[in-house]
Amino acid sequence: MRDNDLAVLPKDNTEYSTKKYWDERYEKGSHDVVFDWFKTYSDIKDLINTYIKKDAKILMLGCGNSSLSEDMYNDGYSEIVNIDFSEVVIDQMKERCSQTTMKWEVMDVLDLKYNSNEFDAIIDKGTMDALMCEKGDVWDPSPQLISVVTREIDGVERKRFLTRDAFELEVLTLGTSFHYFAYICKKKKESGSLDSLE
Ligand SMILES: C[S@@+](CC[C@H](N)C(=O)[O-])C[C@H]1O[C@@H](n2cnc3c(N)ncnc32)[C@H](O)[C@@H]1O
Repeated sequence: MRDNDLAVLPKDNTEYSTKKYWDERYEKGSHDVVFDWFKTYSDIKDLINTYIKKDAKILMLGCGNSSLSEDMYNDGYSEIVNIDFSEVVIDQMKERCSQTTMKWEVMDVLDLKYNSNEFDAIIDKGTMDALMCEKGDVWDPSPQLISVVTREIDGVERKRFLTRDAFELEVLTLGTSFHYFAYICKKKKESGSLDSLE
């Protein structure tokens, strides 16, 4: 079941960054509701297969009720740990994926409880977008928001958040008419060469 029919639009965009909004949204559905933000695994499979080995230990940030982890699992990625700050969706996903060995944990992405080297790859699909939501009407955005979004589309804003000395950042464009961006952060080895995930 897809949740497109559920009345889930927030009153204003800032709600996307609150736990209350996500809990209420997920409470309206059940474990069999699937909603994939922006792209599905079939859209980004080649990209993921290129950068992440099948035996990699993967952390999925803000998993929601997306089918991405299940689709990756069925494609051979068996070591996936999924986190979300909504215990409602984590309980639903545990039930939906009870036949898999994937792990599901309630955790805030801004307060991770893992060691820094615990994962080979970390995936964020749409979660940083939720964190970045500002006040305003999506149908009538303020000039300030337009300016921020324009800068983000140019890759500047998001790059600013993702640039670190320890990483090499690659920005890829996905899609043909309506474009999305994939930001690949690869950890550098001490020598400066890339610690490839392949
Ligand atoms: C836009 S949805 C994306 C869901 C999924 N990754 C996808 O691609 O369809 C954002 C998800 O991030 C979760 N989320 C938002 N802020 C979070 C935070 N600070 N810590 C953990 N999860 C968060 C929400 O509960 C929601 O499930």
